[in-house]
Amino acid sequence: MPSTRTSAETAARQAAAPILSARELCVDFKLEQGWVRAVDGVSFDVRRGEVLGIVGESGSGKSQILMAAMGLTAANGRCSGSVTFEGEEVLNATPDRLDRIRGSSMSMIFQDPMTSLNPYMRVVDQLTEVLVAHQGKSRAEAVNIAVEMLERVRIPDARRRISLYPHEFSGGMRQRVMIAMALLCRPALLFADEPTTALDVTVQAQILDLLNGLVHELNAAVVIVTHDLGVIARLCDRVIVLYGGRIMEEAAIGDLFTTPHHPYTQGLLAATPRLDDDTAHDLRTIPGTPRALAGQISGCPFAPRCERRMERCTVETPTLRRTTNGKRAAACHLVTA
Ligand SMILES: Nc1ncnc2c1ncn2[C@@H]1O[C@H](COP(=O)(O)OP(=O)(O)OP(=O)(O)O)[C@@H](O)[C@H]1O
Ligand code: SF4
Ligand SMILES: [Mg+2]
Repeated sequence: MPSTRTSAETAARQAAAPILSARELCVDFKLEQGWVRAVDGVSFDVRRGEVLGIVGESGSGKSQILMAAMGLTAANGRCSGSVTFEGEEVLNATPDRLDRIRGSSMSMIFQDPMTSLNPYMRVVDQLTEVLVAHQGKSRAEAVNIAVEMLERVRIPDARRRISLYPHEFSGGMRQRVMIAMALLCRPALLFADEPTTALDVTVQAQILDLLNGLVHELNAAVVIVTHDLGVIARLCDRVIVLYGGRIMEEAAIGDLFTTPHHPYTQGLLAATPRLDDDTAHDLRTIPGTPRALAGQISGCPFAPRCERRMERCTVETPTLRRTTNGKRAAACHLVTA
């Protein structure tokens, strides 16, 4: 269930400067018929020790937000707005600078372990590469650190298994190897894109708990992308609900689950019979069809599926408005304070 932190911890975190800030981030892709917008004016902050969830249906732009922040947008894409990491702009950073940030301070867990694991290289070589290249460790030191990290992600017999190739690990174990790899450089900021989707429920829970523990130990900031509200409930402090590339709602985890303000969030939660039921929390069960990728359209992107749609909703785009205490925000004409 929703992770709990003391109010003192939360207050201290809110006072700290964000490690990552996105402002009016847009990601566009060039297709044969012209440019289309996948991420549309997204702004958020993340601080050390905080786990931010980004939730939304397939195609809502979740991965592209992470890719933009990592400087990994595809060649046919372009980003605008701003993403700063420790105050430094990432969107126009040189490839060298990005490489250094990615090797030492920022890392990513991809949905498919084979995206970041090379099938032709032994795990030991892949894990030690970053430590030798970016941190100047000797090979022997790097192997010891890598074995220790594999043990921490609970890979049994890690000293022997580190010499295996990725295909010699089971799916769950490969995922753990990738998590170990992402945490090896002790990143200040970790992006996780559907890190457990491919795993069965028990392994998923174990890995999320593991991630949670390691992240708090490192006092890292985490942005985790998922379509799974169960994952959000287990891990996150704060959540952004994305629809059609735009933020529909942002709230602390407890507020989102107890009093969702936006009709889309309400729909998601209604489509999720019980959050503690590990078999029934897939957002893809919400009725209707997700919005097609489109350029800037007028009106609320959720209007075609919204049961509470009013006349103005199809002509006037609702802005993301903060509540008076600044703690949450929603983009809906019905939400006024
Ligand atoms: N290189 C590309 N060229 C054109 N369109 C792209 C490209 N990469 C992504 N898109 C489009 O951008 C939109 C957002 O994609 P994104 O991968 O961020 O979705 P997502 O929310 O992560 O979905 P999923 O849950 O399926 O992973 C999608 O419509 C996708 O098809
Ligand atoms: S702005 Fe209108 S269409 Fe959009 S979510 Fe609110 S009520 Fe529904
Ligand atoms: Mg994705």
